[in-house]
Parts: sequence; C-alpha cells; structure tokens
Amino acid sequence: MKTIRILINGCNGKMGQEVAKRARIMEGIEVLCGVDKADSGDNFFPVYTDLQAIKEIPDVIVDFSVPSSSMKILDFAVEKKVPIVIATTGFSEEELAKIKESGEKIPVFQSYNMSYSVIVMRKICSELAKLLDGTDIEIVETHHRRKIDSPSGTALMLAEGINEALDNKFYYEYNRHDKREKRSPNEIGIHSIRGGTEVGTHAVIYFGEDESMEIKHTVTSRGVFAEGALKAVKFLINQDNGVYNMKDMI
Ligand SMILES: NC(=O)c1ccc[n+]([C@@H]2O[C@H](COP(=O)([O-])OP(=O)(O)OC[C@H]3O[C@@H](n4cnc5c(N)ncnc54)[C@H](O)[C@@H]3O)[C@@H](O)[C@H]2O)c1
Repeated sequence: MKTIRILINGCNGKMGQEVAKRARIMEGIEVLCGVDKADSGDNFFPVYTDLQAIKEIPDVIVDFSVPSSSMKILDFAVEKKVPIVIATTGFSEEELAKIKESGEKIPVFQSYNMSYSVIVMRKICSELAKLLDGTDIEIVETHHRRKIDSPSGTALMLAEGINEALDNKFYYEYNRHDKREKRSPNEIGIHSIRGGTEVGTHAVIYFGEDESMEIKHTVTSRGVFAEGALKAVKFLINQDNGVYNMKDMI
C-alpha cells in the first residue's frame, strides 16, 4: 500500500498535535507538512503560515482548526484537487453549504465527532426517542475551558438524529433564562458546560413521569478523535467526489 502523505491544518493545536503524534506511528500515513498561524518550531515536519507558500502537494488534508481557516484550506483543497477531512466544528449555515458544494469537486469527509462510539450513540438515541416518545429530552455537553463554539457539533448531531426519528417535530432550546414559561413538549433543551481540561462528554436524558433514562458518552483522550480522523484519511483516498461522514465509513 502506498504511503498517504497528509497536510495538517491547525497543526499546532491540541488536535493537530495529536494527529501528528498518531500519524507518526500509524502504518501507511506520513505527515508531509502542517499549516498554522505561527510556526512553533517544535514540529518534525515543515509548517506554513501562508497557504501560497506551500511547496508540497499532499494526498489528503486533515483540518482541526477554526471555521475561517477551514474555509481557506477548503479553497486550497479544491484548487489543488486534494481530498479533505474536516473535523473542525462551529460552522455557520453558509460555511456548511460551501463544504457541501465542494463535495462536487473533490472528496470531502466531515464529521463533528470522529469517534465511532458517538455514531453508535446517535443511532441508539434516535431509536430510544421513538420508543420513549412523549418524554422530555435534554442534552448536556461538557468540554474544556478553551472550546470556543457552543453547543458542541456533537450535541447538535445527536439532536438532529432524534429530530429526524420523530418527523422533525422538535425545536432546540438553548436559553431558558429569558423566558418565564413551562417547558414545551416539542423542545429539546441543549446545555453547554465549560471547564478545566475535560475532553468531551455528551449525555442525552429522557425524562418521563417519575423516571428518567440517560445515555452518556465520555472521551478521556483526544487520541480517540485523531485515530478516527486518520481512519477517515484512509477511507477518503479511495472515494469519488462527494461529502462523506462517519456513517459512510462504518
Ligand atoms: N470532529 C471531532 O471529532 C473533533 C474533536 C476534537 C476537536 N474538534 C474541533 O477541532 C477544532 C480544533 O480543536 P483543538 O482542540 O485542536 O483547538 P486548538 O485551539 O487547540 O487548535 C486550533 C489550531 O488552529 C490554529 N488556527 C487558528 N486560526 C488559524 C488560521 N487562520 N490558520 C491556520 N491555523 C489557525 C490555532 O493556532 C490552533 O493551533 C475545534 O473546532 C474543535 O471543536 C473536533
């Protein structure tokens, strides 16, 4: 098997560093170069701060950065015809539309969560919502103090799965502080907790009469996401143009 040479966008971030570390020991993958706002000088691969200066053409790009940077590296990927794995979260509707459009020109993999278990959780939570129709559903996500977007992309992904399973009857409630009214049966409350170094926890709770049920997923190491992103690299290199996600890979 030919070694796949990757470019890591956001290479100096927590996830970028984790991807580089894993790629170093994973067979069939090599880090060709990285892109970030500044070159820390600590990497074992060349780091670019300007996309125009990149000399190498990678086989696949892996993006763990911020939405504005993802959009720039996406333009670069389309221009150079390089498949891209987008793991960044917090995109606007317009940015998501641009990602979808790019799938007509290159293979694109996008997932708000690169963990296989979370995709299983989405499936279970959607099924449970049907079985427990009529319960009040709340989602609580917890992340480290540095996370800039909220709610997490994964919380939204879980909510969307539940909503699709029940004919899109729900709307999402993020803020009850300004309201003085009872909870609607058609809302899914989504709550974000931020603090410390917590990697990421998602809980979906179904509240019924005198009972409740909770499905919870906890990640204790970023390695889980890095591993998933590198598996997505190996998957994407063999795909035609299109937008893929974890469900396609599984
Ligand atoms: N899909 C998943 O499974 C998953 C898992 C973990 C994190 N994430 C997401 O990945 C992203 C990165 O997470 P992180 O914890 O590594 O964050 P981080 O803040 O540690 O890293 C982000 C990196 O992007 C760089 N960056 C910012 N602007 C840039 C620009 N204009 N050009 C180039 N680089 C730029 C920063 O300098 C930083 O090194 C976030 O959106 C996070 O939510 C996704």
